[in-house]
Amino acid sequence: MADHGHFITFEGIDGSGKSTQARMLVDRLGAQTLLTREPGGSEGAEEIRGLLLSGDTDRWSAETEILLFTAARRDHLEKTIEPALAAGTTVISDRFADSTRVYQGATRGDLRATVDQLHTLMIGREPDLTFIIDMDPAIALKRGLARETGEDRFEDFGLAFQETLRHGFLALARDMPNRCVVIDGNRTPEQVASEVAAHAMDALSVAV
Ligand code: ADP
Ligand code: TYD
Repeated sequence: MADHGHFITFEGIDGSGKSTQARMLVDRLGAQTLLTREPGGSEGAEEIRGLLLSGDTDRWSAETEILLFTAARRDHLEKTIEPALAAGTTVISDRFADSTRVYQGATRGDLRATVDQLHTLMIGREPDLTFIIDMDPAIALKRGLARETGEDRFEDFGLAFQETLRHGFLALARDMPNRCVVIDGNRTPEQVASEVAAHAMDALSVAV
C-alpha cells in the first residue's frame, strides 16, 4: 500500500461522459476510493459552484471565472483532496485544473498564462493520471442539455465554444503526455470504462 493515495482526474467537454466514467471507475476500484467533483467537492466550493454554473453567459468575465474556480479549487484541495490522499485514499475527481486551463485559458482570449500563474501560486498540485474523454461536440452537447440540470451556463455558450474546448483538451494532452490519456468517448459506457480501468490499474500497480 502506498503511503499516499493516487490522484486521478476526468476531463473533457460538457456531456462527454466524465461523471459516468468517474462513477464506474470508483465502483471498479472499490474500497479506499473517494469520488469528488469540480467545481465543488467541499462545502464552500459547492456554494461557489452555484454562482458559476447558473445565470447568463455574460454573468462573469473569463478573468473573474479564473478567480472563482481557483477559490473553489483551493477549498476543495484543503478540505477534501489533501486529507484523503494523506490517508492513502485514491481520489477520483470529475474535473480539476485542466478545465480552467481550457475553459478559461483558451476560449475567450489567451488567458493561459494568467491561469498558470494563479495555479502555481494557489494550487500547485497536478493529478497522477488524467483521462480526457474525447467526443464529437454535437453529440456531447445533446447529451448534456438533455439532463436539464439548470447548470447549463457553459453549454449555453454553444457548439462553436464546445469545438474550441475539444481542441484545447487535445492540445493539453499532447503537451502533458506523461499524465494525460485520451479516451474515445463515442462508445458504450462499458467499453469506455474497460479502457479506463485498464489504464488506472496499470498506474495504480506502478504506484503501490
Ligand atoms: P459529463 O459528466 O461529461 O457531462 P455525463 O456522464 O453526465 O457527462 O453524461 C452525459 C449524459 O450522457 C448522461 O445522461 C449519461 O447518462 C449519458 N452518457 C454517458 N456516457 C454515455 C455513453 N458512453 N453513451 C451514451 N450516453 C452516455
Ligand atoms: P460539470 O458539472 O462537470 O459539467 P458537465 O457535466 O456539463 O461536464 O462542470 C461544470 C461546468 O463548469 C462545465 O461546463 C465546465 C465548467 N468549468 C470551467 O469552466 N472551469 C473549471 O475550472 C471547471 C472545474 C469547470
